[in-house]
Formats: sequence, structure tokens, C-alpha cells
Amino acid sequence: MPPPLPTPPPPHPPLSDRVEELLAGPHPLPIVVAGDPVLRRPAEPYDGQLSSGQLERLIAAMRATMLAAPGVGLAAPQVGLALRLAVIEDPATVPDELRTARGRVPQPFRVLINPVYEAVGAARATFFEGCLSVPGWQAVVARHERVRLRAQDEEGRTLDEVFSGWPARIVQHETDHLDGTLYLDRAELRSLSSQQTLAERWAQPTPRLAARELGFTLPPAAD
Ligand code: NI
Repeated sequence: MPPPLPTPPPPHPPLSDRVEELLAGPHPLPIVVAGDPVLRRPAEPYDGQLSSGQLERLIAAMRATMLAAPGVGLAAPQVGLALRLAVIEDPATVPDELRTARGRVPQPFRVLINPVYEAVGAARATFFEGCLSVPGWQAVVARHERVRLRAQDEEGRTLDEVFSGWPARIVQHETDHLDGTLYLDRAELRSLSSQQTLAERWAQPTPRLAARELGFTLPPAAD
């Protein structure tokens, strides 16, 4: 007689159960780091799987986690939820020369649900960036300088807006998370630098010196 078939594993608990479990745990929420498959899977669209109260509490917990890190964006997969939801907020407390060179203007708190972006124009902006899920490192990434972002907000209202400068970088980075893409996938790997090296050597407004010293080329738009 053949051995009995193994019992199939239980299906994933519904999203609302996983959110309750997450919110019952430590705060700020633990941030998932690179190597966890949840960061590499396309997340599922948000389609009312949570009650409005749950969604509100999840967003509040994600915002607090982002601010505590500190970071300027956080996507749901980074707290272990494969859901197309991200929060962004950037007070942009940086010196004026960085603000000018990088377009690092303040970005008020926003909730992005089911975001998608497309390039507006061909200009690229090339700067060091990092990710809370890749702690301790940054690398140079060439991104669209302007993007049109379509999403819903936490009230279900349609968002259709053009972002430029650093906020455009943030929305591209966070939307990429929802497709299982990390900034390292788009980075110039020769630029990879520890936070300490970055502070000591590559704190200039642009990565031109880093390109020369580390041996990589920048697209023309970076000048
Ligand atoms: Ni990230």
C-alpha cells in the first residue's frame, strides 16, 4: 500500500490576520532585510482586504517605523507584507547645496496604494541612495528625473501626479519594492559604499568624484 499523501500545508492566513499579528508585535515594526523572499516577490494589489480601521492602524505603524529608522519611504514588503502599499515622507533637512544639486525638497507624508509610475521625459538623475532593507550600504542609481505616478490614497481617492527631483526618486524606489525590485538591481555596483565610507569620502552633492575614484561612468544628465 502506498504511504499516505502528506498533509498539504495550511493556506496562508488571510491578510487581515497577518496584519493583526504584526501590529500585536514590537513597535517600531521589525524591518525585513535583503535575502528574505518577501522582498523579491511581486506584492498583491490592495483591494479592500483590510477593514478601514486595520488599514489606518497599519499605515500609522508603517509611518512610525519609517520615521524611527529613519527613512524617507517604507513599502509593506519591508515589514513582511506582500501588499502594494507604501508610505513616503521626507523633511529634507539637508544643507542648501545638497538640496539644490539633488532636488531634495520636502515631501509631505503620503500613502501610496497600488502605485505605478512612468517616465516623463528622458532626463536621468544619478545619485547615491540606500534602503532600510540593505542596512549599512549605499550605491549610485540612475533614475528618471521626472515620473508620473498613479495610485490611490488611504481614502481610495485617485492620485495622478508628476514628481521630480528627490521625491521622484523616492516614489520610484518604493514602487519598485512592490515589484520585488531592490535599488541594487538598478545600481552601479562599482559605487557600492559603506555608510562610513560615504560619510568620509562621498558626501559631495554629486557622485562625480566617486565615479572618478571608483571607476564608473555617469550618464551625461548627472552633470
Ligand atoms: Ni527600500
